[in-house]
Amino acid sequence: MSRFLSAFLVLTTCCELSAQRVDNSDLEPAKPVAVAIKGTPKLDGKIDEVWKTAPVVEVNQAASGIVQIDEEEMATAKVQFLWDDANVYVLWHVKDSLLSAVEENDPWATDSVEFFLDQNNKASMFYQDDDAQYRVNFKGGLSGQGEGFDESHLKAATSEVDGGYLVEMAVKVTKIKMEAGVKMGIELQVNDDHGSDSRDAAAKWNHTEDDSWEDTSNFGTLELK
Ligand code: BGC
Repeated sequence: MSRFLSAFLVLTTCCELSAQRVDNSDLEPAKPVAVAIKGTPKLDGKIDEVWKTAPVVEVNQAASGIVQIDEEEMATAKVQFLWDDANVYVLWHVKDSLLSAVEENDPWATDSVEFFLDQNNKASMFYQDDDAQYRVNFKGGLSGQGEGFDESHLKAATSEVDGGYLVEMAVKVTKIKMEAGVKMGIELQVNDDHGSDSRDAAAKWNHTEDDSWEDTSNFGTLELK
């Protein structure tokens, strides 16, 4: 066999192998879908009528490498979504048996919830100007980061309830037109200071690695109905 022919055969085999690898990626697990229904709540930390029929998702998967306590004890949340022409609204019903927020700590080390949003659903491996992380602690303190983060786009009200707290968030959507059928990328996280004055646990909705603050490629989907 000539040297040219064997080089050609090696090249073709390599191409076939990499083509197979691309095909295999179709077998990756489908992204979970959460549904937001149309409605505008009063942002007061109380559950008004408009939330009653919004579907619920569970944020209860231990984030890998973070949980230092018994997973049974970890703070978790039930979350619902609404949308209107300007905002997406997120209602968090957090189960957390011990509430604490040490002000001088990193904001993610105190009892808080995080909403990660990829408005154009491009699922990029880095944050673009439509991607942001929005955080609210149980006392209503706001923080966040990411290329698309603007604190003036985040409003929230909180209240303490039996066994935990409620967070009602409004996040202004500025990079896409809000209409039925739109799909955005999202992830959800609950941070838990379980008495150590630092973060003892974090629960997530979909992707259990602690990288949602810098990589949107593993977000699930929020569909506007
Ligand atoms: C992560 C932290 C990260 C922070 C950045 C949190 O969601 O859990 O590990 O440093 O975001 O804002």
